[in-house]
Amino acid sequence: MNIVFFDSGIGGLSVLREALMLMPNENYIYFADSDNAPYGTKTKEEVKKLTFNAVQFLNEKKIKALVIACNTATSAAVRDLRETYDFPVIGMEPAVKPAVEKNNNRGKRVLVIATALTLKEEKFQNLIARFDAEHIVDMLPAPKLVEFAERFLFYGPEVSDYIKEIMPENLDQYGTLVLGCTHFPLFRRALEENLPKDIDIIDGNRGTVNHLMDILKNNNLLSLSDKKGKVTFYKSGVEVTDKTLLEKYEKILYGRNL
Ligand code: DGL
Repeated sequence: MNIVFFDSGIGGLSVLREALMLMPNENYIYFADSDNAPYGTKTKEEVKKLTFNAVQFLNEKKIKALVIACNTATSAAVRDLRETYDFPVIGMEPAVKPAVEKNNNRGKRVLVIATALTLKEEKFQNLIARFDAEHIVDMLPAPKLVEFAERFLFYGPEVSDYIKEIMPENLDQYGTLVLGCTHFPLFRRALEENLPKDIDIIDGNRGTVNHLMDILKNNNLLSLSDKKGKVTFYKSGVEVTDKTLLEKYEKILYGRNL
């Protein structure tokens, strides 16, 4: 049985990376819908359809749990997926709650970067309504970061220029930057270099993986094997066998640079 990770592209590898650290003995399937990325600039209906198509394909592959390692697809489809399939479906949620809790007391604001679709969807708006009573959260879409990531460009002048271009002027007012898109942790180094040192940068990856582990435990689904599991990759429905591409994926999963 496999734990399946799904994303519009390579962003979900930042989540799978955490899962591999905590649960190395599981077998994983990673599905990148890179041929159809980006999702964040599409309509909710389009994203839902693409997500359902992918999950239908993956359903043939013995799923014990499905992680929608994409905030955008989570907003568009997670509720319907849970109604359709019997296996546990785990979604992403931008780490707004811890960020607000931390910054309310120190008089700083919170900046959430995510895709345009995530930010405008009901799921995110509900999250803000629940936790941002003091109105300290600002939101910013960053679509080009998804494009850069899909080109495996995570660092350098082009990335830095874009980060500087989109960031609000008065950055000193922010205590925390929330990465509300799974592609964005891939830019941690570039973000750290281009933001004031005292802004902390957080994502929801560890929280999602802890939640996944709890669900597996509670359903007696954790692997009992003492051997390292394997990861199989699919790109938009085709198994990835290209060595160069596999190396790029593996560098994100096991490399030191995240
Ligand atoms: N990785 C996705 C997310 O977490 C979206 C990127 C895209 O626009 O395709 O929202």
